[in-house]
Amino acid sequence: VSNRIVQGKVVVVTGAGRGIGREIALLFAKEGARVVVNDIGASLAGEGADRTPAKDVVRLIRDGGGEAVASHDSVADFGAAQRIVQTAVDTYGQIDCVVNNAGILRDVIFHKMSFDDWDSVLKVILYGAFNMSRAAATHFRRQNRGCFVHMISNSGLAGNVGQANYGAAKAGMVMLSKHIALDMQRFNVRSNCIAPSAWTRMTGSIPATTPDQAARVAQRAMVTPDKNAPLAVFLASDAAGEVNGQVFYTRMNEIFLMSQSRPLRGLHRQEGWTPQTIAEHALPALRPCFYPLDRNQDVFSWDPV
Ligand SMILES: NC(=O)c1ccc[n+]([C@@H]2O[C@H](COP(=O)([O-])OP(=O)(O)OC[C@H]3O[C@@H](n4cnc5c(N)ncnc54)[C@H](O)[C@@H]3O)[C@@H](O)[C@H]2O)c1
Repeated sequence: VSNRIVQGKVVVVTGAGRGIGREIALLFAKEGARVVVNDIGASLAGEGADRTPAKDVVRLIRDGGGEAVASHDSVADFGAAQRIVQTAVDTYGQIDCVVNNAGILRDVIFHKMSFDDWDSVLKVILYGAFNMSRAAATHFRRQNRGCFVHMISNSGLAGNVGQANYGAAKAGMVMLSKHIALDMQRFNVRSNCIAPSAWTRMTGSIPATTPDQAARVAQRAMVTPDKNAPLAVFLASDAAGEVNGQVFYTRMNEIFLMSQSRPLRGLHRQEGWTPQTIAEHALPALRPCFYPLDRNQDVFSWDPV
C-alpha cells in the first residue's frame, strides 16, 4: 500500500463508465486515489443517458476496497462541469487531477457533415475539456497544485478521413493543454496529453469492408483499453513533477513522445515577396519539406506487437 503512486490524491475521470476512461479510473483507485467516476452514459454518437456504466465502475472500485463516487453530469455543459468538480471537493475535500476523457464520435465525410455533427462533437470534446479544466482551475489556483491529463487522438495530430469534427476538436485540446501549462505553471499546475489507442466501441464503429481493413481491425482488437492507463496515472503522480506541456501516444506496450510544431525551413528575400517570386523561388525551396497528405495509419504504418 505504501508504494501506491497516487495514494490519497483525488481525481476526476470523465467518460469513466466505459472503455479507456473506465480502465484509467480503476488503475487510479488501485494506486490509492479517490475517484470521481463521471459518465453521462451516452451512445457513441452522444445520444441518451444511462447511469449504469458509472455506477458499475464505482461498485467495482468499492468492491476492491477503493474509494469512488459516481457523477452523471455532462461535460458539455459549463454549469454541469462545475458540479462534477464540486463533487470531488464536496466528497473528498480537494481535487488533484482531472482526466478529460469523455468523447463522442460522428464520422462523416466533410462535404456531408451537418452543423449538428460538428457542433455536438466540439461540445463534448473541446468545450467539455475547457469546461472541466476551467472549473478545476479555480481550485488548483487556490490549492497551488493540480494536474490535467487530456485524452486526445492521433486524428488531432496526424489526421484521418471523415473526422474533420473529431480531429479539429482533439487538435484544439492539444493547444488548450499547452496554454493551460503556460498559464498555470506558476501555480504548480501541469497539463499533458495522451493520444490513446484501444479496441472499444469507438474503434469498433470503424467499417471493415476489404480483407485489408478486416486484418487491421483484427489486429486492433488485440489492443486493450487498460494499456493506456499506466501513463495517465503516472502523469498525475508526483513522480511526473517535471512533465508539463507534453504530448504522448500510447499503443499497447509502446509509449511515444510526439513532436510539437517547430519551423522546418525559412527563406528570406531582401526586397520582400510577390506572389510571382513565391512561385519561382519559395515554392521550389520549400517543396522538399512539404508533408505528404498522410493519415494516422501512414504515420504509424506498422502494427503493434
Ligand atoms: N478507442 C481508441 O482507440 C481511441 C483513440 C483515440 C482517442 N480516443 C479517445 O479516448 C477517449 C475514450 O474513448 P473510448 O474509446 O473509451 O470511448 P467510449 O465510447 O468507450 O467511452 C467514452 C465514454 O464517454 C462518455 N461520454 C460521452 N459524452 C459525455 C459527456 N457529455 N459527459 C460525460 N461523459 C460522456 C460515454 O458515455 C462513454 O462511456 C475519448 O476521448 C476518445 O476520443 C480513443
